[in-house]
Amino acid sequence: MKKIISTAILFALLPLMAQAQQTLAPDHAAPQAYPAELIHAPTPLPDRVVLTWSGDTATTQSVTWRTDTSVTSAFAEIAVANANGRALAPQRFPAETTTFNSDLNQANYHTLTFVDLQPDTLYAYRVGDGVNWSEYYHFRTASDRAAPFSFIYFGDAQNEIKTHWSRVFREAFSTAPRAAFTLHAGDLINEDAFDAEWGEWHDAPAWVNGTIAVIAAAGNHEYYQNETGRENVSDHWRPQFAFPLQDAPQGLEETVYYIDYQGARIIVLDSNKEQQAQVAWLRQVLSDNPNRWTILTFHHPIFSPARDRDNPELRELWKPVFDEFKVDLVLTGHDHTYARTGQMDIPVGTRNFPAGYQQAYDPAIGTVYVVSVSGPKMYEFGKDVFAKRVAEDTQLFQVIEVYDSELKFRAYTATGELYDAFTLEKQAGQPNRLREMLPPETRKTVE
Ligand SMILES: [Fe+2]
Repeated sequence: MKKIISTAILFALLPLMAQAQQTLAPDHAAPQAYPAELIHAPTPLPDRVVLTWSGDTATTQSVTWRTDTSVTSAFAEIAVANANGRALAPQRFPAETTTFNSDLNQANYHTLTFVDLQPDTLYAYRVGDGVNWSEYYHFRTASDRAAPFSFIYFGDAQNEIKTHWSRVFREAFSTAPRAAFTLHAGDLINEDAFDAEWGEWHDAPAWVNGTIAVIAAAGNHEYYQNETGRENVSDHWRPQFAFPLQDAPQGLEETVYYIDYQGARIIVLDSNKEQQAQVAWLRQVLSDNPNRWTILTFHHPIFSPARDRDNPELRELWKPVFDEFKVDLVLTGHDHTYARTGQMDIPVGTRNFPAGYQQAYDPAIGTVYVVSVSGPKMYEFGKDVFAKRVAEDTQLFQVIEVYDSELKFRAYTATGELYDAFTLEKQAGQPNRLREMLPPETRKTVE
């Protein structure tokens, strides 16, 4: 009897329970995506702080940051760093401010270059509007002479940057926390005009971009066609990075430049457009080069490991100049695989890749070419892979150490496993000697 009553009560209550559940629904609804406009909204507080060089690496340092448009006068303060923060007596300098309309918001970008710095010196600086400041960041100026250093090289980040690239950047930084700079070989993002992607690209390194300078080449995904059909670098590029202006061919300002760092010349080319116009500039920059090491970066590889992506026009145009000056190392991206050239054991009479070359690596020249990828998008190899070490379906980062007469290159997977290694040795009056230091063979076989 008791059971019948309680069942009857339960049935009577069911509609009420359902109603109560509906009333409670807002609290128990499925999560909604937090809007990109809010995630990436600028505020009066500085964000997207990024160091670059637009001048001498031993005596200058440029910094760029973003705020909302309420900040119309912005400053940076800088002092030689000390171990007692409150005793810092910084000098204050005004920034240049540019208003920028992105697809999500209107923001102000602020930039300035610290000048007359002391070489090989640790500085503390902060940026802000005089009231709302960033924390103090550190950076170290380059030595004014050749001296050992390291840097981190990334192929395309490009896709799902927050989700899948952040950990690669952070693993890289943990591996080489004293790197002098990070070098990005193009396609930092996928959609050149999407502020949310640039926001993720700045957020992944976070404070590290304010401490270790960025060198970046523009990839095809940093480019768009304007109404007249002209190829333009992303409108985000120049407001957010201060790269050198060095008589680059017209239209290639801040996508074609070079930076000298402690005995190495890092040359950035723009493989997206006007490749011909860059030849004379490149010849000039290579012929008048007091540095022992020359490292080139641009986006589209001249030896492509990906299927059907050979680039003979660019190879024929630029490679003779690289050969003439025996460039040491060429760092590229675009093909979403890993491939690094070296002496191959190729049967006589056969040719691996590409047409016209027995070897992509020529010991009489010594240049080593690398394609790498740091983001999650992956392509397949072509059949005629030409490289000493290759990888598919693997996110990687590279740490390069530069010494007086040796350059040590190491590629690591996203999980920090050593994947490739070689050393270049300078030889007086001879091409570099390439010493293979391959870790135990784990590469995939190519059919
Ligand atoms: Fe690309």
